[in-house]
Amino acid sequence: MNSKSASNRGESCPIIAIDGPAASGKSTVGDGVARRLGFLFFDTGAMYRAVTYAAHTRHIAIEDEGRVSALAEQLHIDVVPSTVDDGRQYTVLVDAEDVTWALRSSVVDTYVSMVSAYPRVRTALTKQQHRIAQQGNVVMVGRDIGTVVYPEAPLKIYLDASPEIRASRRHKESLARSQPADYQAILSGVLARDEIDSSRKTAPLRIAGDAVVLDTDQHTVAEVIDRVVALAEPFLPHPVEQSGC
Ligand code: CDP
Repeated sequence: MNSKSASNRGESCPIIAIDGPAASGKSTVGDGVARRLGFLFFDTGAMYRAVTYAAHTRHIAIEDEGRVSALAEQLHIDVVPSTVDDGRQYTVLVDAEDVTWALRSSVVDTYVSMVSAYPRVRTALTKQQHRIAQQGNVVMVGRDIGTVVYPEAPLKIYLDASPEIRASRRHKESLARSQPADYQAILSGVLARDEIDSSRKTAPLRIAGDAVVLDTDQHTVAEVIDRVVALAEPFLPHPVEQSGC
């Protein structure tokens, strides 16, 4: 990392890191904060989902770590501002194919944490994340942004909520998309992903020492967005500096 990019990310063109367990509201809050600040919203979970989806559609066994890792190393994944007005927050392209909605399927939910635990997959995707976020002024959400991907981020948030609240939010989202949804199955899926994500050897989900922990059980989305925007205030770029991002 050169000193210019390090100082950009730390000072004039910051990265706001938001981590937390499954369905803790990172995407909704991250997107809301990014819109308020005029920052890019970058959901890194979409990349792990994209590799899982691509392995599934290419009939690669998810247990085959070597082939899944080789696939992650060769795929070109882009997370770009929404290209279609159908309720999506962003568009995900895998080798130029729009896979945005396919990433939300239950098969991807089931296998994504297994894929995310493979060290070579993480190395490949972390490299692509640095490519996409290098200009700064980004709200990045995931599991390891504040701990591994951008430990120098000036603001790190850890969003949390009880498993029951997280499962009921995800349940409502699925129903809103007219997807079949069973609350108990969603709750077990969320708990299973938390367990794999927190116990894996490489870049496990954990709270960075200097993260601000926000428990969202008792707060509306608007309240949490307001709080993160207020916390970001001291790190926002001065208008004159913005052109340098
Ligand atoms: O939206 P939700 O919280 O359900 O999940 P996501 O953010 O889309 O992430 C899906 C999965 O990708 C997680 O359960 C992790 O296994 C993995 N992930 C990761 O390991 N590291 C990241 N930076 C982001 C996601």
